[in-house]
Amino acid sequence: MNKIKVAVIGASGYAGLELVRLLVRHPGCDLAALTSLEYPGIPFSQVFPALAGIVDLSFSPASGSEPEKIAAGAEVVFTAIPHQAAMGIIPRLLAKKGCKVVDLSADFRFREVGLYEKWYQAHTAPELLTEAVYGLPELHREEVRRTRLVANPGCYPTCVILGLAPLAQARLLQPDSVIADCKSGVSGAGRQTLLGLTFCEVNDGFRAYKVLEHRHTPEMEQELSRLAGTPVQVTFTPHLVPMSRGILGTLYASLTEPRAEGELRELYRKFYQGHPFVRLHPPGSLPDTRNVRGANFCDLALRVDEGGRRVIVLSAIDNLAKGAASQAVQNFNLMVGFPETMGLETPPFLP
Ligand SMILES: NC(=O)c1ccc[n+]([C@@H]2O[C@H](COP(=O)([O-])OP(=O)(O)OC[C@H]3O[C@@H](n4cnc5c(N)ncnc54)[C@H](OP(=O)(O)O)[C@@H]3O)[C@@H](O)[C@H]2O)c1
Repeated sequence: MNKIKVAVIGASGYAGLELVRLLVRHPGCDLAALTSLEYPGIPFSQVFPALAGIVDLSFSPASGSEPEKIAAGAEVVFTAIPHQAAMGIIPRLLAKKGCKVVDLSADFRFREVGLYEKWYQAHTAPELLTEAVYGLPELHREEVRRTRLVANPGCYPTCVILGLAPLAQARLLQPDSVIADCKSGVSGAGRQTLLGLTFCEVNDGFRAYKVLEHRHTPEMEQELSRLAGTPVQVTFTPHLVPMSRGILGTLYASLTEPRAEGELRELYRKFYQGHPFVRLHPPGSLPDTRNVRGANFCDLALRVDEGGRRVIVLSAIDNLAKGAASQAVQNFNLMVGFPETMGLETPPFLP
C-alpha cells in the first residue's frame, strides 16, 4: 500500500500527542513532521519517553516558513493548535495544491462568520468557512469524503450532538428545552500550566465553570438546529472533574410528542446503524467514561419518564479521542478513501 505522508502541527500538546500515538501505528500513513514551539530540534522521544523506540522524529518549529515546508512534505496536515493560531497557518498549508487539513481548533467550525466573531475574535480567513466541513462523520460523512478542510468538532459538542441528533432529526426535540449538564476530565484544558488546573486545585473537588459562557454552546446549537430545521437552544453547563480523560454528558430534553422508551431506542438504533463508533447501551446499562478511554467510541443510553414527555440521554466519550484525535483520524480516513475504522481498532484502556 502507498502510505500517505502526514504531519502534526502542535504535536507537543495533549490532542497532538494523542494524534501521534494513533498515527504512528496507523497502517496507511507515515509521520513526516511534528511541530512544537517549545521544543524545536529536540527528539520527540526525549520530551515524551513513552514513545521512545516508536517515534524517531525530532520536533520542527511551527514558525517562519515552516508551514510551507510542512505542506511540501506532507499530503495531510493535522493542526492541533489553539484557535486563532490555526487560521493563521491553514491558508498557507492549503496554498500547496493537493494538501488536505484536519483542524482540531474552532476556527472553521462555524458556517456564519458573525457567529464565530461573536464568540471568538475577528476571522482572518473567512473565505474558507464555506468549504470547511464540520467533521462529525456520523452527520457529515459524505461531505467529509469530498473536502480538503475538515473542522474537527469540539469535545463537548461531539458528546452533546451525538447524544441528541436522532431526536433533533426526528423533530422530537422541544427546541427550548435542552439542558446539557457535562463533566470533563482536566486534559480538556490542554497541557498548559494554569494554577486552577494544578493537582491540589483539582483533586478531591468538583466545580462548574464558564456557566452560560462556554464557546462550545453555539457549536452545539448550530448542528442541532440544522438537524431539527428550527433554532435549538442549549443550556450548557460544563464541569471539571478530577480525572485525566473523559466527558460524561447528562442531557435533558422535552419531547414534542410523547414516546415510549423502546420507540426512542429503536429511533437511535436506526440513526446510528452503519456508524461503528456509536454504541447504544441495552436497557438497564449506563455509559461510563472508563469504558471509552483511549478509544473512538461514543457510548449512549436513554431513559424516558413515565408520561413519555421528558427524556434523559447519557453520552460518554474520551475528550482526547472521539472528542479530538481519534475523530480527526476517522475524518482523515474518509478524506483519503481508507476504511473509516482504519488505525482505530484498538480497544479502550482497561480497567
Ligand atoms: N484537549 C482537548 O480535549 C481538546 C479536544 C478537542 C479539541 N481540542 C483543540 O485542539 C487544539 C489543541 O488543544 P490541546 O488541548 O492539545 O492544547 P495544548 O495541550 O495546550 O497544546 C497546544 C499545542 O499547540 C502548540 N502551539 C501553541 N501556540 C501555537 C502557535 N501560535 N503556533 C503553532 N503552534 C502553537 C503548542 O506548542 P508548544 O507546547 O510546543 O508551545 C502545543 O503543541 C486546540 O485548538 C483545542 O481547542 C482540544
